[in-house]
Amino acid sequence: MTEDVPVRIRPEIAALPPYRQGKQAGADSFKLSSNENPYEPLPTVVESLRRTVGVNRYPDATAARLRHRLAERFGVLPDEVHIGAGSVSILSQLMLAAAGPGDEVVYPWRSFEAYPGLVLIAGATPVEIPLAPGARHDLDAMAAAVTDRTRAVIVCSPNNPTGPIVTQAEFEAFLAKIPSDLLVVLDEAYAEFVTDPDAVDGLTKLGRDDHRNVVVLRTFSKAYGLAGLRVGYAIGHRRILDAARSTAVPLSVTAQSEEAALTSLDAEAELLERVRTISARRDRLAAGLRAQGWDIPEAQGNFVWLATGEQTMDAAARFEQDGCIVRPFTGDGIRISVGEEESVERVLRIAQSIVDGLPEGHAGRRLA
Ligand SMILES: Cc1ncc(COP(=O)(O)O)c(C=O)c1O
Repeated sequence: MTEDVPVRIRPEIAALPPYRQGKQAGADSFKLSSNENPYEPLPTVVESLRRTVGVNRYPDATAARLRHRLAERFGVLPDEVHIGAGSVSILSQLMLAAAGPGDEVVYPWRSFEAYPGLVLIAGATPVEIPLAPGARHDLDAMAAAVTDRTRAVIVCSPNNPTGPIVTQAEFEAFLAKIPSDLLVVLDEAYAEFVTDPDAVDGLTKLGRDDHRNVVVLRTFSKAYGLAGLRVGYAIGHRRILDAARSTAVPLSVTAQSEEAALTSLDAEAELLERVRTISARRDRLAAGLRAQGWDIPEAQGNFVWLATGEQTMDAAARFEQDGCIVRPFTGDGIRISVGEEESVERVLRIAQSIVDGLPEGHAGRRLA
């Protein structure tokens, strides 16, 4: 029986499940459920937190130093950069700014689990477009789903949780099909892990003057290993970002996060070396799984996808029993983050026993 709410809550909010986080891991388990970076923070980053004194003072509301630094780096103006407490908070701000009751937001599904909630919280209606074969975006179907009620489209490359990228050519062909005044959010939370040269890159390959409706989201949570500090950024047209700034909860980016992000940019070469190690580990993991008989979609983030279907919860329990906390999506599949080197062998050992038990013709298995 559900408990009565003692006050009146918007019905669409009351019906929402609260955000569920990937499980925490015990001391002898690998936590492979939240696409985090397995490396400890760099000493210089830890030191930067110590250096940031003055927690009795509010932070700089616009994180100006970080905005300027990123603007310089990507050849844009500081007003074309917006910092948020994680890129997910910027996505929320954009949804609130662009879409309200009666409006629609189109996005691929399955994709990042926060999308439906953020659209519903804005009061708008989610329009979920099933993934195409290969667990890739079906951009033709997404373009066809755009109507005069659509206020935003979200494209996620690489797609969380399935892994494939959208190519630059596909993205540009998609933009050519949709109205030029429709907000397109290109969520590139895992961009740094991408090794496919054809992948879309909203910051270095896209002509920004021709695509003023595109806002690119990036984060320090994944490649830079700052998930716990909550800092992400958007790059896009100043007036669109002004609208996001208007719907933001003021002062939510702390001075510590800003400082740690700046220090991480100073140490970028070292951090990106770690990213290359993780991407290579991902490729080894995906290849090992394919060799066992799994049908693994193109994996370009720091995670791999097992299409376990009806067997998902059983398979996730098997991983957990053997010390790997993974992220199950009931009835659909399991996402496994690329963690410590020692986790690879353990994941492969458990995965082998699961795939051996899947029936012939199961969607998670490669056709013999
Ligand atoms: C596709 C995608 N976008 C955005 C985020 C949010 O990242 P953060 O808010 O930590 O920047 C995530 C986190 O898992 C993600 O998978």
